[in-house]
Amino acid sequence: MTDDYGRIARFYDRLMEPINRPLHQLMVSLADPGPDAQVLDIGCGTGLLLEAFLTATDGAAEIHGLDRSPAMLDVARDRLGTRADLTVGDATDMPYGNDTFDIVTCSLMLHELDTDLARAILAEADRVARPNATIIITDYYVGSLRFKGRLWRAFSYGAEFFAGVKHFAAWRRHVQAGGIPIALPDAWTVRQQKVVAGGNLAIWVCDTASVT
Ligand SMILES: C[S@@+](CC[C@H](N)C(=O)[O-])C[C@H]1O[C@@H](n2cnc3c(N)ncnc32)[C@H](O)[C@@H]1O
Repeated sequence: MTDDYGRIARFYDRLMEPINRPLHQLMVSLADPGPDAQVLDIGCGTGLLLEAFLTATDGAAEIHGLDRSPAMLDVARDRLGTRADLTVGDATDMPYGNDTFDIVTCSLMLHELDTDLARAILAEADRVARPNATIIITDYYVGSLRFKGRLWRAFSYGAEFFAGVKHFAAWRRHVQAGGIPIALPDAWTVRQQKVVAGGNLAIWVCDTASVT
C-alpha cells in the first residue's frame, strides 16, 4: 500500500505544529483526562496530540496511537519513544479489544475520507471505546465563517490542495456532504460542538452510550 504521507511526514509539523498545538491543547482540556486515562488517538500522525495528553497528566495517561502511514508514525516514535504504544494500521479494523478506552480522539483525519468510510471508522471507534467514554473529533466545520474563519479557510484550501489532487477532492466531498455530524454513530450524544478558528474548524465532544 502506498503511504500518502510518505513525502510530507518530515515537513508536516513544520507547517502544522504552530496551528495544531493550541488546537490539541484545547482537545485535551475538553477531554479532561483522569490521571490513569486510557487514550487512543486514531490517525495520530506525528503524535503531537498524544504528547499533549502526556503533558496534561504528568505522563500518567496510557496512550495509544494508530495511523496507516509508517512515515508519520516514524516521526511520532521520534517524539514519544517508549511513552506511547504506536501501531501502523487501518482505522476501519483496529487491533484493540472491545470497550478498551476512556477517551478516543480523531483530529483532522476524517475529512480525507468518504462519508461511508468515516462512518465505518467511527463505528470501530465506538467498538473500542468503553461505555460512557468521551470521543473528541476535530475537523472542518460546515457552517458560517467569520472574517478570521475566511482567512483560515483560505489557508486550509492551500494546504489541502498542496496535499494532492486525491486529498483535495476528498476534502471538497466531505464538506459538501455535510462534514462530521452526518457520520456520527446514532448511539453517541453530542455533549458539545465547539466552533474554533472563526468557523473553519470545530471540535465535537461526544459521549458513547452508557451501560444498559
Ligand atoms: C492530516 S493528518 C492529521 C494527523 C494528526 N491527527 C493531527 O491532528 O495532526 C491525517 C492522518 O490520518 C491518517 N489516516 C488517514 N486515513 C486513515 C485510516 N483509514 N486509518 C489510519 N490512519 C489514517 C493519515 O495517515 C494521517 O497521518
